[in-house]
Amino acid sequence: MKTRVTELLGIRHPIIQAGMAWVSFPPLVAAVSDAGGLGILSAGPMTPEEVEADIRKIKQLTNKPFGVNFFPDNPRLEEILDVIVAEKVKVVSYGIGNPGRIMARTRSAGIVNMPTMGSLRHAVKAEQDGADMVMVQGTEAGGHCSHVATSVLVPLVVDHVSIPVIAAGGFCDGRGLAAALAWGAEAISMGTRFIITKECPVPENVKQYYLTACEEDTVVTGHVTGVRCRVLHNKLADAFLALEEKKAPPRAIMELGYGRFRRAFHEGDEAWGSLAAGQVIGRIRDVPTCRELIERVVSEAEATINSLSRYAPAPVGSQRQR
Ligand SMILES: Cc1cc2nc3c(=O)[nH]c(=O)nc-3n(C[C@H](O)[C@H](O)[C@H](O)COP(=O)(O)O)c2cc1C
Repeated sequence: MKTRVTELLGIRHPIIQAGMAWVSFPPLVAAVSDAGGLGILSAGPMTPEEVEADIRKIKQLTNKPFGVNFFPDNPRLEEILDVIVAEKVKVVSYGIGNPGRIMARTRSAGIVNMPTMGSLRHAVKAEQDGADMVMVQGTEAGGHCSHVATSVLVPLVVDHVSIPVIAAGGFCDGRGLAAALAWGAEAISMGTRFIITKECPVPENVKQYYLTACEEDTVVTGHVTGVRCRVLHNKLADAFLALEEKKAPPRAIMELGYGRFRRAFHEGDEAWGSLAAGQVIGRIRDVPTCRELIERVVSEAEATINSLSRYAPAPVGSQRQR
């Protein structure tokens, strides 16, 4: 499936593995890129030295394009950008922040800019700022999520920007990819789905915990701090919501959240770790390899697109009309 996204990124399939702090490390990133999608390393909590080491690890595992995701407010951002430019990384992804500095440093080095936005206003601004493509993330998404559903936000943004749009939030199969293409997107990004793959380096008990969760098992925290995060319901989520309920100072809530991704995805703490996950969790029931998953999503999407033609009257003079 060729789209402007696959052509700009030099990948075979319009499927992106979302940047995920404490999850998207070299084994996952390389497996996705090697299978024809785009793997994204999450620099989230890393030092520039750690980012450099992981980029080199990925290059040992695959010669295919991959990306790096970072937080624009990372205090060592300049050094991380130095590493990304020096290592000639294909694409950078990042959330809301001051894109000017990032774009100035990376675009001049030929690096594709793919910011993630959760609203129409921010997506239009990203295009004005010079983004090459924009990832649009709906409220169903795991981790930092917006207020608007993917099915509304994606076609809305497609109607207001001319750069390619990547749909994120709620995708796990080929019907989802077909739907995103129908909305005018040119690729999908999947986060939660890629956590539950063979190559994803999170503890096995965490994968099993995710496999047993249903679509109603996620909650959104961050109503007081404004840092919305969709996570699986557990003791930590309850503690967050209790603090928010009694309007605790944002500082106290932020402190409770400190180091919780690490606790979940490195230490495997199901109760007190922050198990970020999207509502799509209710549709995920296996642990495939990344290659099996990507090939399955593509063939399902092709089958879905072909089968949908039965609902449309045959174009005049087409084989189907005869
Ligand atoms: C465990 C986890 C960690 C995440 N960490 C980040 C991050 O570091 N940076 C970021 O931009 N988005 C992050 N996200 C959001 C994802 O990049 C992506 O947009 C989202 O997972 C897509 O929705 P889905 O989970 O329904 O597929 C994270 C999501 C999850 C589930």
